[in-house]
Parts: sequence; C-alpha cells; structure tokens
Amino acid sequence: TRSHPFYGQAHQAGIETEQQRHTVYMTFDLTSPLASDLQVLLARWSGAIAQLMKGLPIGSVEPDGTSAVAQDTGEAYGLSPASLTVTVGLGPGVFDDRFGLAAKRPKHLAPLPDLPSDQLQKALTGGDLSLQACSDDPQVAYHAIRDLTRMARGVAQTRWTVLGFGRASAGKGQTTPRNLMGFKDGTRNIKEQSEFSEFVWVGDDQAWTRGGSYQIVRKIQMNIETWDADPIGDQQDVFGRTKAVGAPLTGKRESDVPDFAAHRGGSAVIPPTSHVALAAHENNGGVKILRRGYNYTDGLNQYGLLDAGLLFLAYVNDPQHFITLQTRLGGSDRLNEYIQHIGSGIFFTPAAPRPGRFIGQELF
Ligand code: HEM
Repeated sequence: TRSHPFYGQAHQAGIETEQQRHTVYMTFDLTSPLASDLQVLLARWSGAIAQLMKGLPIGSVEPDGTSAVAQDTGEAYGLSPASLTVTVGLGPGVFDDRFGLAAKRPKHLAPLPDLPSDQLQKALTGGDLSLQACSDDPQVAYHAIRDLTRMARGVAQTRWTVLGFGRASAGKGQTTPRNLMGFKDGTRNIKEQSEFSEFVWVGDDQAWTRGGSYQIVRKIQMNIETWDADPIGDQQDVFGRTKAVGAPLTGKRESDVPDFAAHRGGSAVIPPTSHVALAAHENNGGVKILRRGYNYTDGLNQYGLLDAGLLFLAYVNDPQHFITLQTRLGGSDRLNEYIQHIGSGIFFTPAAPRPGRFIGQELF
C-alpha cells in the first residue's frame, strides 16, 4: 500500500527510492517535430504520474454514456500503488536540431560510444524518451506504462521495452537479491548519502539540470544454460565471490571487504579478470556507480533455449564513469563468456518538479 510522493522532492523518484520488486522499462522516439508537443507531453505525463503514484486512475475508468472511451484502461483500478515510481528520462535526441533546445543540453548527454564486446541490436538501442515504472505489483507497473504510452500517441512512438521481474540490486538496508546467475547482486552498491552526492546527482552544470542524473540502461542477455553447466569453482572465479554467502573469495561474510592483493600459491585469490576485480572502485581510480537493475526473461529463443538476462540500469552524474567501467569489463571480464550486451540507451533524468510544475518545464 506504500505510496511515494511525486512533487517537491529533491530528485525524481525511482533512483534513490528503495528498489521495488518489478519494473517495466519503455523507450520512445519523438515523431512530432514541435517542441510544444514535447512540452505538452511532459506536462501531461507529469500530471498522470502524480496520480498513478497515489494509486489513482488517470481519468475515467467507466465514463458516462455508452459511446465514451475510458481515459484510464482500468487494470489497476482498486489496486494499491505498491510503491510505484515512474522515472522520466530525456535522450540525446531531445537536444538535437529538431526542437531548438540545443543550448539546454546537459553537458554530458551524448550517445554512448562503441564499447568493447558490444553486440547491440538497433531495435533495442537508443530512444528520445524513457519511462521506467517500478512497483512491488507487476500489474501496477505495467498499467502505468501502458496508459502513459497511450497518452503519447501522435507525439512519440514506442521504440523498445523490457519487462523486469525480481530486483537485481540492493539499496541501503535492503537484503541483497540474486541475479539469474544465482549470485548476490548489489552487495557493494552505492548506499550512503555522501556517495549519492559525489557520484549520482548532477551539481556542476546549468541550473535546470541540478539534482538530476544520467540513466544508463543495457539489456544484457545471459547464456544461462551454458552457465548452469559451469562448475561452481569456475563460477565463483568469474565473479570473485562465493555463491551461497556472496563473500569475496578472500573473506567469509558478504560484507567483508575484498582483498585484491591477496595471493595463494603464486596467483591472486580474487582473479584479476574476475567481474568484481575489474569493477571495484579500488581498481578504477575511485569510480562508483549506482546500480538499480532487474532480472528479465523473454521466454525461449529461436533454438528453444531459455532467453533471459539482466536489465542493467545505472545512475551516474558523469556517463564517463560507466564508460570507464564497461571499457574494462567489456575488454577482459571473465563474465563475457556468458553474456552479451544487446540493448543500450542513455537518458538524462531531471530533478522532481515542484507542485504545479512538470518534469523538464525549465526547457521551454
Ligand atoms: C558487482 C553481477 C554487469 C558493475 C557485481 C556482483 C555481481 C555482479 C554478482 C558482486 C556483488 C556486488 O557487489 O554487487 C553482474 C552481472 C552482470 C553485471 C550478472 C551482467 C549480466 C555489470 C556492468 C557493470 C557492472 C555492465 C558496469 C559497467 C559492477 C560494479 C560492481 C559489480 C561496479 C561492484 C564491484 C565492487 O566494488 O566490488 N556484479 N554484473 N556490472 N558490478 Fe556487476
């Protein structure tokens, strides 16, 4: 029954918010060349999201008169918001020549460069706008995206989407969940306020961008059937952590700090090409990112194999931090044998609006 506020917060909900169990992620291409259409869409979306986050329909469910079409599709009518948040992102295309908004471009908002091991599919990449609905009730999350998509008709069309089940990261005070490889994910995530200020929230850019963040999304497919045949010793070396407890290979408890210098029999206990050795801030000039990903499945692939993976979502105040990490991971991570990055996007998520205003209002 929990409801998060939409207006008057320092940041958009759905970033620092305690991570909910399910997500629906959707991207859009703007089809109207008019900035005023984008403006109206952001205003209508903001008003609707405020309603949805309270658990209210966005208009009539059963309108008067038998020939009227309902404004709200109805499948969440009577359900509680279940901690729903909807986070709006603006892609690089919003600031290209089309809309006259180039001068307002957030300083680091540009398409991601090609990265090592990229196997991106065009149909799962890019977008001018993103919406991420997160909720503890999958029907509530789906309803939000469905009705917001409907409102966009004539202005923006859908581009790609991922339905995520099961959070695959942890925030402060949350137990660490597991990703579909069976390992605890989110142990060493950003959790402290000081880390949010330093690595997540934009501070040193135009006034309108302050308190926002950059959302980086990657659809990462896993070869889970190959993974499931891999011996446990190798699986643990791939991540540099134990499977059941999630402890670093140099420790006993999940919370133990990994010791990347520890050696046994002439080789490092945590392999230098393990996922955590490459990703850890100790080995990356201090870089940290907020991870807020979800497990996903698309059912079966064309060969009848399980088709599943991680909807990786990160929030950073400088996309270069993600690029630095993924350049290292994409180059030599032992995990690469079992994953492919097939989808990708980058969006700027502005701060939350004050009451009576809408997300991105300062652009117009
Ligand atoms: C840590 C899984 C992709 C960045 C971890 C951990 C696991 C994991 C199990 C250890 C527990 C933890 O501290 O959270 C995965 C899987 C991925 C994936 C299954 C792909 C399917 C990525 C990507 C990035 C990334 C693409 C960034 C570019 C990190 C970071 C850590 C981490 C920064 C913390 C390392 C540390 O400080 O010890 N990941 N990850 N991961 N991962 Fe990933």
